[in-house]
Amino acid sequence: MTPETTPHDFRPLDNNHPRTAFSCGDTALDIYFRTLAGQSGRRRMSVVHVMSNTVTQDVIAYYTLTNASIDAGLLPDVLVKKNRYRPHDTLGVTLLGRFAIDLRYSRGKGWGVHMYMDASYNALLASRIVASCGILLDTETGNARAREFWAGREFVSLGIRNDGKERFFISMDYIQKLHGNA
Ligand SMILES: CC(C)(COP(=O)(O)OP(=O)(O)OC[C@H]1O[C@@H](n2cnc3c(N)ncnc32)[C@H](O)[C@@H]1OP(=O)(O)O)[C@@H](O)C(=O)NCCC(=O)NCCS
Repeated sequence: MTPETTPHDFRPLDNNHPRTAFSCGDTALDIYFRTLAGQSGRRRMSVVHVMSNTVTQDVIAYYTLTNASIDAGLLPDVLVKKNRYRPHDTLGVTLLGRFAIDLRYSRGKGWGVHMYMDASYNALLASRIVASCGILLDTETGNARAREFWAGREFVSLGIRNDGKERFFISMDYIQKLHGNA
């Protein structure tokens, strides 16, 4: 089952999405989707985007997007210099808060890359209305697969946070090029 051969769609989470069977191998991401994602959307804490198999109605994957901010001094030097940000400038950024593929679909079939294209395109579109200098995400320490996945997408590490999670970033300029300046 690859993205090329499986009919699927993306839409914000709604009551028709079957949520209880979702399992990506990360307990926190599973519990969030099964029990918290609905209220998280209703309370405007994040927009939960769901990819579904349109034949079986299975949930294939989900991701969340939220507006956030970051001090320019925490961003990669090259971006700071290019844009002449001052270290204490507060910049808008798009938080890819959660990103998970169900185990029936994940692990090297291309679903992660496919969903990332949707997430990054939505972040790019939103940045044309509300400024965002890039996409930010945090990975659990020890999640080598996630680390490799994001490094493979050219995300750069911004270091380990106080809570032990590793923070990654990619600039919106890069995302714009990724989508062919669309
Ligand atoms: C991390 C995770 C999102 C990756 O998803 P995935 O579906 O396994 O990823 P993909 O199959 O798209 O990509 C994995 C690799 O296979 C390659 N690949 C294999 N077949 C492919 C195909 N047909 N098309 C595109 N890429 C393909 C990709 O290029 C990628 O390699 P790279 O990262 O070295 O470039 C997924 O394992 C997951 O949900 N894990 C649990 C939750 C989690 O850790 N989330 C991340 C939190 S930050």
